[in-house]
Amino acid sequence: VPVSFPPGFKFGAATASYQIEGGWNATDKGVSIWDRFVHEDPTRIPNNDNGDVACDSYNNWERDVEMAAELGLHFYRFSLSWSRILPTGFNKRISEDGVRYYNSLIDGLLARGIEPFVTLYHWDLPQPIQELSGWTNPLIAEWFAEYARVVYTLFGDRVKLWNTINEPIMVCDASYNTGSYAPGIKNSEIAPYVCNKILLLAHAKAWRIYDKEFKPRYHGKSAFFFEIQLRRLLSFLSIILRKRISSIAQHQQKLTKLFSFSGKVSITNNLVWFEPASDEYKDLAELALQNFGGRYSHPIYSKEGGWPPGIEEVMAENSFKRGYSKSQFPAFTQEEKDLVRGTYDFYAFNHYTTRHIRKAKEGETFTAFPMGDAEDLDAISILPEGREIGATSWSVVYPEGMRHILVWLREQYGDIEFVIAENGFPTYGGLEDSNRVNYHKEYLEQILLAINDGVNVTHYTAWSLMDNFEWVDGYAPKFGLYEVDFTDPKRTRTPRQSAYYYASVIAQHSLDVSTEMDLILIL
Ligand code: BGC
Repeated sequence: VPVSFPPGFKFGAATASYQIEGGWNATDKGVSIWDRFVHEDPTRIPNNDNGDVACDSYNNWERDVEMAAELGLHFYRFSLSWSRILPTGFNKRISEDGVRYYNSLIDGLLARGIEPFVTLYHWDLPQPIQELSGWTNPLIAEWFAEYARVVYTLFGDRVKLWNTINEPIMVCDASYNTGSYAPGIKNSEIAPYVCNKILLLAHAKAWRIYDKEFKPRYHGKSAFFFEIQLRRLLSFLSIILRKRISSIAQHQQKLTKLFSFSGKVSITNNLVWFEPASDEYKDLAELALQNFGGRYSHPIYSKEGGWPPGIEEVMAENSFKRGYSKSQFPAFTQEEKDLVRGTYDFYAFNHYTTRHIRKAKEGETFTAFPMGDAEDLDAISILPEGREIGATSWSVVYPEGMRHILVWLREQYGDIEFVIAENGFPTYGGLEDSNRVNYHKEYLEQILLAINDGVNVTHYTAWSLMDNFEWVDGYAPKFGLYEVDFTDPKRTRTPRQSAYYYASVIAQHSLDVSTEMDLILIL
């Protein structure tokens, strides 16, 4: 097994706004669907947990930056709360406080040499937009694109790595099909599929705005050389023309936009690896991959665009079975296909676990998780046996799945850049988390094997920097490299064994480090 990472390979950790920020009604922040969901019926989440305070990163962001620095992260992936920036959800009013908050965080990271990797949408939709049907209203594509433009304008001079939407399948299936996530809508026959298409259009519009209006116009070696000369000239002028320094600074900002550091934007998919329960289910497993990941990838990453092979047929059949006279799965017009196709700069995905899959037997009902697959395909997805399971019912450790996914992705979409935007393991707590250490080690080994197979993986992101609000599971599962004390008003953070392990992997740029971190010695 190879142990060293390619030069330039980057390590990060991730969080998401609603899961960590708290400050749910600070200053003029608007209400999001998660604020509404947990307040409307507190019993929805075990222990009546909610994200009102969470890790209080709204006040503790400096400590978060310090932790990222302690780990030696190359980048920190976090998400923006749409309602913190645009309290009404629409671009008529930008919150000064929201902008101040994210500016501090971004500048704080950059001051430590940590690259911000910013997700525009990690599930906390502004409530006023949900009141207009949220992700099932086609107009949201435009509203999301406008929000994206606001955000690129505010932070694009410093942020060069972007995600549009985190895990679209969760947005469409958990929010509009099973209803387990905010806003809790249960409409399995139409809403999740309508959401699927609209969400892709929203992503595409946001990607195209960046591509057209924000990608530096000049890059490459000669542009870089020219930029350096111009910068030198400006610094020289700023020394002799002391009084006009602010206007010179403005010109320097414009330069940053025009030149060299070409930013990148992509969507982040959730990918579960599906293994056939036995050989006869090979085609079913392939269809499950297409249904779970392909529906959110093929329209963007394939050469021809549009829905993945086999899916429209399955969906039409399901519609007929349910009594409709025509398919309820929304088709793309040629224009829409062209709008969506090619709207990526890399392929980002979150991967945690694997399922075995087989056809359901007479009378057997499909299993609820992972969602889309089983119901659409009349299949049963099974937890692989004999494997460790973490503190959430779905978190089976299956490291080989990571390599399989990477190889499958390259077969599907070609030799593009792959970014692992989340990977992690939930424990029940405690600072000694050797099971998390092993999880990261074993998944990273599989990534190295995939790199050996020739897959171009460039980034790895641990979920999560710290314990946080784990959606419907509340605060019980602990995903953090840092433990957060939720009984302490200060929300003190303490590094776990896994934090020391990850820090040494990053420092050595290799897996050739000890997994036996002695906490007592280190602390
Ligand atoms: C999500 C995170 C979540 C994590 C663990 C991912 O699906 O992006 O928000 O906390 O999984 O469940």
